[in-house]
Amino acid sequence: EIPEPCTMILFGASGDLSGRKLVPALFRLFQEGLLPAEFTLVGTALAPMGHEGFRSRMRTAVEQALGAGGVDPAAWNAFARGLYYVPLDISSAGDYARLGGLLERVEVERRTRGNRLFYLAVSPALFGDVVDRLGEAGLTRSDARRWSRIVVEKPFGTDLPSARRLNTRLRRHFDESRIYRMDHYLGKEMVQNLLVLRLANGIFEPLWNRRHIDHVQVTCAEPLGVEGRGGYYEQAGVVRDMIQNHAFQVLSLIAMEPPASLEPEAVRDEKVRLLESARPFTPERIRAECVRGQYGPGLIAGAPVSGYRQEPGVSPTSGVETYAMLTMRFDNPRWAGVPFYVRSGKRMKERLTEVVVQFKEGRENLFGAGQRERMSANQLIIRIQPQESVTLRVAMKAPGRAVRVRDMDMSCFYAASHEGPPPEAYERLLLDGMLGVSTLYTREDMVERAWELVTPVLDAWSHTGAEPNYAAGTWGPADASRLLERQGHAWNGA
Ligand code: BG6
Repeated sequence: EIPEPCTMILFGASGDLSGRKLVPALFRLFQEGLLPAEFTLVGTALAPMGHEGFRSRMRTAVEQALGAGGVDPAAWNAFARGLYYVPLDISSAGDYARLGGLLERVEVERRTRGNRLFYLAVSPALFGDVVDRLGEAGLTRSDARRWSRIVVEKPFGTDLPSARRLNTRLRRHFDESRIYRMDHYLGKEMVQNLLVLRLANGIFEPLWNRRHIDHVQVTCAEPLGVEGRGGYYEQAGVVRDMIQNHAFQVLSLIAMEPPASLEPEAVRDEKVRLLESARPFTPERIRAECVRGQYGPGLIAGAPVSGYRQEPGVSPTSGVETYAMLTMRFDNPRWAGVPFYVRSGKRMKERLTEVVVQFKEGRENLFGAGQRERMSANQLIIRIQPQESVTLRVAMKAPGRAVRVRDMDMSCFYAASHEGPPPEAYERLLLDGMLGVSTLYTREDMVERAWELVTPVLDAWSHTGAEPNYAAGTWGPADASRLLERQGHAWNGA
């Protein structure tokens, strides 16, 4: 399905996200014939630049992102004809009037029928201001003949009150059905695959509950540090940066009840319902079931890297956590008693985003300890990135005369079984924004409930700072492994 003709208005067009992800994704969609021929992009940022300057800057960015070979010159020229730029100071009402003037002109020239997709790729501190100014300038109108929607990048607030304030402000100019809160994890191919795997196969759903599942692990690990974003990270920390949004989205797709349909509201209702059944974090649970950490100096791929406190923009005595592990529990009939261990960290040993569903040991296991070589209970391992794959770990007979049982992996690697690598998350999400499909965007109540859940943890941890307790290039603090060991569990891999 190809979206209706429209104009996307990109705030923060000279920024990193626009050049590295957004414009390359738009170009790929265009190249694949998935955008309407009239598609138009109006970039805005502070930098003074003309349309041509913007076009050549975007061409460089797209070539960098896709490799020069990925940019067909004829396709680029056709795409670039629809690129425009207007310098804009976010606080200046006059500049919005100028933006409005340009929009009206290009809408006629390019026949985009007045449909507008606003995209806020600017500092979150500015979201509210941009939306107020857009509203005041009369640019956000939507009626039966033309739509206007807004995509808001993360982070969506920094705690519950700020998320509520932001929601209220957005709602003054856009109703909920026109607000698209971005969580790019939802656009990842394997994240979308979670529901398919669970619900399009007859064999998993009957086992998907406390009777058969022992525990679940969700890991979002990156070897990257804070990459020049020390200032932002000092205010955020890993719970705000990764757990409240990305990890909770993955978790909710694993643990939610099957929705009645795949309609956006049906899916999003179930996610919220799940988070509503999450057991709140009390001071006791935070002490006993959560672990935090901060990286010290160490080695990444053999090269020395500095500790968090030595990063530019970070206080030398910073207490911000770069690693967190939360044990989530859902007090509902499906999951009572099943722990969900959720962890995320910077400067970890490897890039690894995965879900491990560990099943219970079958009672009818005839094979004694003497016959078992490293046999764990069955695991379903869903590798979201890198190297998307699904693995079912099962016990098999080790070849040989004796009967010995060992783990073997039945794996399906996406890259080997499909044509080429999966599309970038942003391609799917941008297209959905233009099509008006909000399933893969976060709804107001989910954002708020997620904040509500993590707030006690953030509060408790803000009283005493995190200390450097894991070396860069490792799997995080030893306490996180000990916590699982005490419950008879172990992290997959490390
Ligand atoms: C972003 C975080 O939302 O997600 C970054 O702000 C993090 O700190 C990034 O590195 C990870 O995304 P991905 O797609 O590389 O796993």
